[in-house]
Amino acid sequence: MSNNEKLQEFKEVRAKMLKGGGEDRIKAQHDKGKLTARERITGLMDEGSFIESQAYIQGRTTEFGMDKKRFPGDGVVTGSGKINGKQVFLSSQDFTVLGGSLGEMHAEKIAEAQSLALKNGTPFIQVNDSGGARIQEGILALNGYAKIFRNNTLSSGVIPQFSVILGPCAGGAVYSPAITDFVFMIDNTSHMYITGPDVIKAVTGEIISHEDLGGSIAHCAKSGVAHFRFGSEIECFDFIRKLMGYLPSNNMEQPPVVDAGDSAERKNPAIMSIIPDEPKKPYDVRDIISEVFDPESFLEVHKDFAQSVVVGFAKLNGRTVGLFANQPKHMAASLDINSSDKGARFIRFCDAFNIPVISLVDVPGYLPGISQEHGGIIRHGAKLLYAIAEATVPKIALIMRKSYGGSMIAMSSKSLGYDRVIAYPTAEIAVMGAEGAANVISRAEINNADNPDAKRTEKINEFKQQFMNPYVAAGYGLVDDIIDPEYTRIELIRALELNIRKKEDRPAKKHGNIPL
Ligand code: HXC
Repeated sequence: MSNNEKLQEFKEVRAKMLKGGGEDRIKAQHDKGKLTARERITGLMDEGSFIESQAYIQGRTTEFGMDKKRFPGDGVVTGSGKINGKQVFLSSQDFTVLGGSLGEMHAEKIAEAQSLALKNGTPFIQVNDSGGARIQEGILALNGYAKIFRNNTLSSGVIPQFSVILGPCAGGAVYSPAITDFVFMIDNTSHMYITGPDVIKAVTGEIISHEDLGGSIAHCAKSGVAHFRFGSEIECFDFIRKLMGYLPSNNMEQPPVVDAGDSAERKNPAIMSIIPDEPKKPYDVRDIISEVFDPESFLEVHKDFAQSVVVGFAKLNGRTVGLFANQPKHMAASLDINSSDKGARFIRFCDAFNIPVISLVDVPGYLPGISQEHGGIIRHGAKLLYAIAEATVPKIALIMRKSYGGSMIAMSSKSLGYDRVIAYPTAEIAVMGAEGAANVISRAEINNADNPDAKRTEKINEFKQQFMNPYVAAGYGLVDDIIDPEYTRIELIRALELNIRKKEDRPAKKHGNIPL
């Protein structure tokens, strides 16, 4: 064969490799409104930055006629590229090749990309679009999943890991995304479940569609498995590129500092008109966030799940912070099982990646109820306390209105580990609300009074007068300062700057035992 013939052969092999499962299957992929594995990489990465690994790898199983079904690349594209200049490693499953199913060599490629991401200290992004374990490769496929799960676990807390679900993700395959930090889904396209509608119908008799069972709303709003949902793949990629700008590449680096596009001296005169005079009246804590933090910088995480807390990344004077805020607009901001999980997981991500946490506090307590008690509010609520106490990043609390009981400890206690606690003059910091307190400590006096209702009101007002303010807590040193809400941005920037070099050690241990 002449050199020219060899070059020609190379071009043909390469063209075949780049086409994945071929033109017809690419068309079928597009007809479903989905991009191909390579188009997705183009959408995510800086132009021309992608360097591919193991591009020609092939399956080696011969059973079930698989020796006749060999595709260079084996149904997944892996390698490294840049997102806004930041190096990342990535895998992108190719549904046009054997339905993106995961065989032995396919898994080897993903596992190698994961290992390189870990060794290089770069984020890892896995794009999932797969029918699951390649059935013809049987337990070799299962073995491949095990390698991937293990790598996900070893990378956890060392490099950020994103799972972008852009098609089916079924069976045990769902557990890799579930181990990673953030799961992204597309409406009417992404489906995650351990068993699909057919199996469920056969086993339990329940009838449900793919979308209702494992679509983006099911997982973003109900199960909490996924964190973000989008109308299209392109919207999702744009968001991922933006989010990457808030995070360090690994746990040894600090998050990027950007130009704030805002003054550090800007006052917030609007705050007192956002928080109603009536303590039980709801408001949207997102209005406080957009008033105080750098403009348009808030990226909400888990927006549709456990909405009595709002969590997400924002920039404060150009620095990344993790916000953990009570949401009076939802369930009066009570902490329940799901919001405790949501808060704890987010705080642990922030702590792992050196992102200071700011809590915005207006919380009446943990949610009472039989279903909460029997569902394990004690165990789940304990997670939140554990996550805060364990975190060594700077932690700042701003008490805006209510901060009662156990939830006061989770959201704002210096003794649990908050480094600086500031409060508005409207703050009410107490062991419980005035009505509940008066009913307990003055029960006999109220019951024995000539006019019990009038006595109850008197006792409630007495309790309010004495305890429902920030001054008692400040008098005990449990609040560092009481501030004029107009100075919120200025005071939070000061609090952040004075704690930004914070170092805190923990006793040596293998790992803690967070109540799961
Ligand atoms: C081998 C597979 C496959 C698989 C799909 N294909 N899934 N090949 N192993 N797991 C092949 C199909 O045979 C077909 O090939 C091609 O991919 C496209 O699939 P279609 O069915 O035509 O596509 P679509 O109609 O879009 O349906 C997609 C799908 C469906 C919903 C994902 O293919 C499906 O239900 N697949 C099986 C899903 C499943 O049961 N997975 C669990 C495997 S066990 P041809 O050549 O015919 O076009 C598992 C356990 C893992 O995952 C445990 C890990 C711990």
